[in-house]
Formats: sequence, C-alpha cells, structure tokens
Amino acid sequence: MKNLPPKICLENLIKIYGDKPRKALKLLREGKTRDDILNLTNQVVSIADISLKINQGELFVIMGLSGSGKSTLVRCINRLIKPTSGHIYIDGEDIAHVKEQRMREIRLRKISMVFQQFGLFPHKTVIENVEYGLKLQGLEQVKRRQKGMETLAIVGLEQWADYLPSSLSGGMQQRVGLARALATDAEILLMDEPFSALDPLIRREMQAELLRLQKDLHKTIIFISHDIYEAFKIGDRIAVMKEGKIVQVGTPQVIMTHPANDYIRAFLQDIYDARALLQ
Ligand SMILES: Nc1ncnc2c1ncn2[C@@H]1O[C@H](COP(=O)(O)OP(=O)(O)OP(=O)(O)O)[C@@H](O)[C@H]1O
Ligand SMILES: [Mg+2]
Repeated sequence: MKNLPPKICLENLIKIYGDKPRKALKLLREGKTRDDILNLTNQVVSIADISLKINQGELFVIMGLSGSGKSTLVRCINRLIKPTSGHIYIDGEDIAHVKEQRMREIRLRKISMVFQQFGLFPHKTVIENVEYGLKLQGLEQVKRRQKGMETLAIVGLEQWADYLPSSLSGGMQQRVGLARALATDAEILLMDEPFSALDPLIRREMQAELLRLQKDLHKTIIFISHDIYEAFKIGDRIAVMKEGKIVQVGTPQVIMTHPANDYIRAFLQDIYDARALLQ
C-alpha cells in the first residue's frame, strides 16, 4: 500500500479570491501574511500554498476553524473552484489544468461529493436522487434502477425508495446523500462536513456507518470536519488547517502525542479536558 503512487497529490496549491489575484500572489510569494495581503490588495488568500499527498484507500480528514479554507480546498479537488496556482494530480493527471469537458467526465465517474445540507432534490424520490449520477452517466433506466436499489440497500434504506426526501429524518436523508455518492462507483469521495447538521447520536451512528462501509469499499475519502472527536474517530490521517495553510498532518496518534505547536495543542485541549473529567 505504501509503495503505490498517491491517489491525490496537491502541489503548491493557492487560491486567491478577488479581482487582482496576480498582485496578491506576488505578495504571498514575497512572504506577506494573509492579513497583510487583504489590507494591501483587498484579495482573500483562501489556500496559501498547500502540498499534500493522499493515498489510495485513505480516509483523510481536514480539520480547521471556520474560514481556514477547508471547503475551498475540497472544491478545488473537483474543480468547482479553479485554483489560482499550483497542481492537483489525481491518478497522475493534473486536473488543475484539464479542459472543462474532461473535468465533467472526471466528476461523473471518478469523484463524488456529499454535502453538509444533503443537497437532495426535494421533488425527486429517494431512488431518483440516488440514480441521478447514473442517469448523467447515460446508464439505461433498468440498469440504473437496479444499481440504485443495490446502493440504497447498502445504506439500509431500500424500503424508502419511493418516498420524497422530506419524509425522511436528517440522518436518513444523509444516508441518501451517501448512497447517491456511492452509486456512481466513484473512487474518490469528497465529504464537506457531511454530518454537521445531524444530532450528536445520529452523527455518531453515521460515523460508525461510514467506517463500516469503508472497510469494504476502500474509497479514497477526504472528509472535512470541525470536530476533533470526529476527526480522531474516523481519520486514518488528519490535516489541521489554519489561515489557508496546513499546520500539521499525521495520524491521530501522532497528532495526539506529538502536537506540532500550541495551535494544535489548543485543539487537543477539549480532549484533555474530557479525559480529566473522567478521572
Ligand atoms: N466566493 C468567495 N469570495 C471571496 N472570499 C471567499 C469566497 N469563498 C470563500 N472565501 C473566503 O475564503 C476563506 C476560506 O473559506 P472556506 O469556505 O474555504 O473556509 P472553511 O474552512 O470551509 O470554513 P467553514 O468551516 O466556515 O465552512 C474565508 O476567509 C472566506 O471568507
Ligand atoms: Mg466550509
């Protein structure tokens, strides 16, 4: 496993929002901070030079405070956002620079996304939602129904196929979101705070469900979370972001035992406090 080339490789990725990104880019390369650049140019440095390798089959968690650039980073990976500079290699192909048509193909077959607010079509039934990507792929109706039902069964919702999403609880709706992402057999799943809108107990159930599925599926998953408990529970490795940069990348154990600096220690404080309470 270790010897395989990385599934996803980010090289010096930069995303600057605003109408003068070149000017901001120059300042960033001169070593100016995000705040300096905002003050000087009114441009927002959202991703400030990130390089990262994510392995095939890895469940990789990105953590960080609000505004640290997590969503921007995953949206660059399926190029819903075009990076200002840098490379994004997926299976060796630099998708930061492929044509839009090729990108559409990649989004249809190789990458799928699960959203925080589920992103289901309210007027389509559960099964129609799950089949949606298969329809875009051009799969004929009988086959896509079959595949859709199989996938719905994986998340335990086959008896809900003909209901509208509004008849389902939040946890069930997110299972539909997950089934829709799994139905296309995409090898890469991007999950942007998928469980944040759920109650704590349901959220825990969904985390366990994801781990159960991943055991069989071996997808490459990038999972964004605010929550250190969630990150530690599900992540093979975790990257902690701050102001568009990565502060530390490592297994939960390494981050726990060798926090890179006080910023990481502050994140861990909740866990230390919880342990102290139990003693
Ligand atoms: N379309 C945009 N135009 C300008 N600035 C943006 C845009 N989208 C995001 N930003 C800025 O980029 C930075 C990173 O935003 P991003 O949404 O990636 O953060 P995040 O870590 O996902 O935050 P959250 O945890 O709140 O979802 C923020 O400072 C944000 O204000
Ligand atoms: Mg976000």
